[in-house]
Amino acid sequence: MSKRTILVQLDTDNHPSVFDRVVAVDAGVDEIFAYGNVSTEQVQALVHGAIFTRGPADLRNTAIFIGGSDVARGEALMGEAQKHMIPEFGLRVSVMLDANGCNTTASAAVRSVEKHVSGQGNRALVLGGTGPVGQRAGLLLARGGFEVLFASRSKERSEAAANSVRTLVKEGSWVKGIAPTNSDELKESLAGVQVVVASGAAGVCLLGQNLWSSCPDLRVLVDLNAVPPLGIEGVEVMDKGTERHGKIVYGALGVGGLKMKLHRKAVQSLFESNKAVLDAVAIHKIELA
Ligand SMILES: NC(=O)c1ccc[n+]([C@@H]2O[C@H](COP(=O)([O-])OP(=O)(O)OC[C@H]3O[C@@H](n4cnc5c(N)ncnc54)[C@H](OP(=O)(O)O)[C@@H]3O)[C@@H](O)[C@H]2O)c1
Repeated sequence: MSKRTILVQLDTDNHPSVFDRVVAVDAGVDEIFAYGNVSTEQVQALVHGAIFTRGPADLRNTAIFIGGSDVARGEALMGEAQKHMIPEFGLRVSVMLDANGCNTTASAAVRSVEKHVSGQGNRALVLGGTGPVGQRAGLLLARGGFEVLFASRSKERSEAAANSVRTLVKEGSWVKGIAPTNSDELKESLAGVQVVVASGAAGVCLLGQNLWSSCPDLRVLVDLNAVPPLGIEGVEVMDKGTERHGKIVYGALGVGGLKMKLHRKAVQSLFESNKAVLDAVAIHKIELA
């Protein structure tokens, strides 16, 4: 008889995310063991608890999910968890990182874009591109063949984001950081841009309607900020492939349905083997029905 599926939820916040737990239940996981305020020092014991209890053939029914609002701490847990698997004896379990929804949100945003525009010969501008979601969206767009501009209030931060993504994509990929300081500079940056993804902080508007509506090259805009004022003026939160001013637009809740579907599917796919490592790139490869 196959063993019950167990998702070990390692969360860096005091209270392990209710959201991630609900998704796990909806994904059909039998048992969720949720741990909060997890530090890197505690990961070894938690991973050993997961890998030493069932035989290698049954370990596909145990998996680890890493979440929490601090994405950098989540990434550290992800690295640490992988260090303590023992693959040479088959003692490993699948692991997924989705701290603050960063990977599933970025993938859902880029999937929305890719429904309408392919990377070949096209350029994308990621506003708020230095945050965890923006950096991942930019990475996935660059991997999809887009030229990518990361925008930030600081040139230093946008260049750092561009540099870190450049190390993860094909040599010769066109990835740049910019820091437009006023709407004229932003307008200049929009020339030759077909796609805008706005992944700025919640409640911050980064692009005015007069700017984007008059940009002839722009075809698709995605705003991930669901907290008013929204990230792109004139894009409504529920927009989902909606046509506005001759462009296709998505609002945060318009992308949200796809993000939820992807999150559930990613959790389910953890139990297809005991060796999945679901980061942004792996999550973006998951096929949805
Ligand atoms: N639908 C979902 O499930 C879901 C899940 C996760 C996130 N989100 C949304 O996706 C967006 C991105 O998330 P995130 O966690 O990556 O965001 P974040 O880290 O909070 O912010 C992203 C970037 O926004 C810029 N920013 C911050 N405050 C600003 C201000 N006052 N004015 C202008 N720019 C500012 C910062 O860049 P610089 O300092 O470099 O300029 C920052 O790196 C957020 O709106 C978030 O709410 C949605």
